Amino acid sequence: MRIIICDTAAEATEKVAGFITDQIRARPDSVLGLATGGTMERLYGRLQQAHRDGLSFADVTTFNLDEYVGLPADHPQSYAYYMRHFLFDHIDIDQDRCFIPDGTIHPFQAAADYETLIADHGPIDLQLLGLGRNGHIGFNEPSSSLNSLTREKALSQDTLAANRQYFDDDANMPNSAITMGIKTICSAHQIVLLALGAGKAQAVKRMMEGPVSTFCPASALQMHPNVIAVVDADAAQLLELKDHYMHEERIQQMREHSAGVV
Ligand code: GLP
Repeated sequence: MRIIICDTAAEATEKVAGFITDQIRARPDSVLGLATGGTMERLYGRLQQAHRDGLSFADVTTFNLDEYVGLPADHPQSYAYYMRHFLFDHIDIDQDRCFIPDGTIHPFQAAADYETLIADHGPIDLQLLGLGRNGHIGFNEPSSSLNSLTREKALSQDTLAANRQYFDDDANMPNSAITMGIKTICSAHQIVLLALGAGKAQAVKRMMEGPVSTFCPASALQMHPNVIAVVDADAAQLLELKDHYMHEERIQQMREHSAGVV
């Protein structure tokens, strides 16, 4: 895992935006895996800016990680709505190629359909991930099989508490979601994870330095050969090997610099 520790959240977000725009420039018909959550709002703002500055998303295909069970795409708290609001409606992407699990049909069917779509259009070139405070990725809550495919997963109490702020009243909040599985996520060629703030510090530590375990689903990323985790200083504060990661990144930067110069 390549670990990039930035001084600020803005710097970390900028870094991740750069990885995504570089990917699209290198391959305009990239298949991207996209994430939701508060962390991504500023990132998607940066991608909108990249589009205004001339980057085209016209040939890009996207797959979102997850959707709440029971919410139609026009529901303001659905992830389909979130994606249109924060990104898709502001760029030149073909929304017929922006895939999100269907929260309105039977979850078995929604999950099977989604795996078929990924098989047909994938593999995913670059998968963007956020990180839940309990170590979830997508909605793969603790206890998720590290070999899981897309399926319905019950939301944990932690996640219900964290995401309740987005719902007007508790009765309206779904208690499960369709999520890409951990195996599905790890099928992407490249994974870029963004985690910001002190509230994520414990999950960041467990993901990077803890044992690989269903207890912290993000720890499965330790087994993937091509992960970049970008965190800010607050999220990195509990890392035991922080100095080492920063040293490694300085070497990486030097390598990239000399490759660019040659
Ligand atoms: C949500 C999403 C995840 C996201 C995470 C963090 O519930 N399902 O994909 O990464 O929780 O969200 P936030 O950025 O708001 O902390």
